[in-house]
Amino acid sequence: MKPTIRPIKGTRDFYPAEMAFRTWLYGKMRAASQRFGYQEYEAPMLETLELYAAKSGEELVKEQSFVFTDRGGDTITLRPELTPSLARMVAQKQRELPKPIRWWSFGPFWRYERPQKGRTREFFQWNIDLLGVDSAYADAELVAVLVEFFRSVGLSAAQVVIKVNNRKLMEAQIKALGLETDKIDGIYKLIDKLDKLPTDKWRAYGRDDIGLSAAQIDQLSGLLNNRDLWQQSSELTAFFNAINDLGVSDYVEFDPAIIRGLAYYTGVVFEARECSGSFRAICGGGRYDNLVADVGGEPLGGMGFAMGDVVIGLVLEEYGLRPALRPIPTEALVTIFDATLIGTSARIAATLRSAGLNTELFPEAAKLDRQLKYANTQSIPVVIIIGPDEAAAGKATVRDLRSGQQQVVGQDQLVNVVRAVVSGQ
Ligand code: HAM
Repeated sequence: MKPTIRPIKGTRDFYPAEMAFRTWLYGKMRAASQRFGYQEYEAPMLETLELYAAKSGEELVKEQSFVFTDRGGDTITLRPELTPSLARMVAQKQRELPKPIRWWSFGPFWRYERPQKGRTREFFQWNIDLLGVDSAYADAELVAVLVEFFRSVGLSAAQVVIKVNNRKLMEAQIKALGLETDKIDGIYKLIDKLDKLPTDKWRAYGRDDIGLSAAQIDQLSGLLNNRDLWQQSSELTAFFNAINDLGVSDYVEFDPAIIRGLAYYTGVVFEARECSGSFRAICGGGRYDNLVADVGGEPLGGMGFAMGDVVIGLVLEEYGLRPALRPIPTEALVTIFDATLIGTSARIAATLRSAGLNTELFPEAAKLDRQLKYANTQSIPVVIIIGPDEAAAGKATVRDLRSGQQQVVGQDQLVNVVRAVVSGQ
């Protein structure tokens, strides 16, 4: 066999079965978003590199972005995330847009990462954000949307956990340890790597790359293991109260080691994980109070998160929660008896389609057996057969492949009969 041209590393082909899963996932994300009153929007796939340089953080901009120069000489990026585009869109129409802004989106993103379990170079993300409300209830609402989604796909609090922290709390604690505040970005990077590196490598990173002493690393470790630290944060205390009121506290816990890799977060940060810990983060998000102003708008705070389609797919698979989906919901197949009757069958198929029935026409005259076998392999429930006698009498045979029953009906009755048989009445 001739070798096929290879797809690009880290991309995925969505054959109909995978596409059906993606569409199903999209439906669940849309339903959870709409349950809380969020409106769907979309931003361009192409943006200037400058947009991310504003605040996303070095790793995303310098190491992970797909960047190219267009024919006019401009530096263009395939979007690695949505939040800066959202901030830009809000800043552009800041006066006209009614507040609060509750928006959600689902689309493709690109990051030049090493492809591995849960990580691809082209992936889809559900983004959902609330801008213009700065309160514990706003922060908690996004977590409640996430729980709504988890419940809707059948994931329980025993299977997934939402780990929450607050950057203001961490900044104050790090300062209290006497660590230089100019090292804060580096320390956040170090915290973000805690579960990604083995302990000795993590300590070496803290020492060599961030410039901390062994004693400072010990102090930081102590902080990252203190599960009661949240009590020192009025924001987190209010947040956990709101989480209670919204009825989702069983999914949520405090974790001082959650800090997130993106540079623009200013308050609450969170990630969802599968409980056994054998998967990468299912989603991540947090509060960003300066991003809209950073891209040229008036100061406006926001809170949101994004969930990729890859890790959630693996987690649902692990728990047997990935639904068996039929890619094509064809309801009826019109067979072709012989070459002289192709026109009759085609006209009947057209009539059924006009009546709203999803109908396939067999592509050529063939033995009836072959046509029925095809309907079976495609799980098409109903076939229509028009032989010479039926055609002459203005009739057609409708066969229900599930029960094996069939009936001969006038072609003027066909739409009603097929509709009834398809719906099993
Ligand atoms: P993020 O943590 O960079 O946050 O990405 C969020 C989620 O996107 C991850 O938890 C993961 O599910 C998915 N994801 C990211 N990179 C990849 C990849 N290479 N392959 C597969 N999935 C991936 C953000 O993007 C923020 N903009 C989220 C946000 C929205 N914050 C506020 N609003």
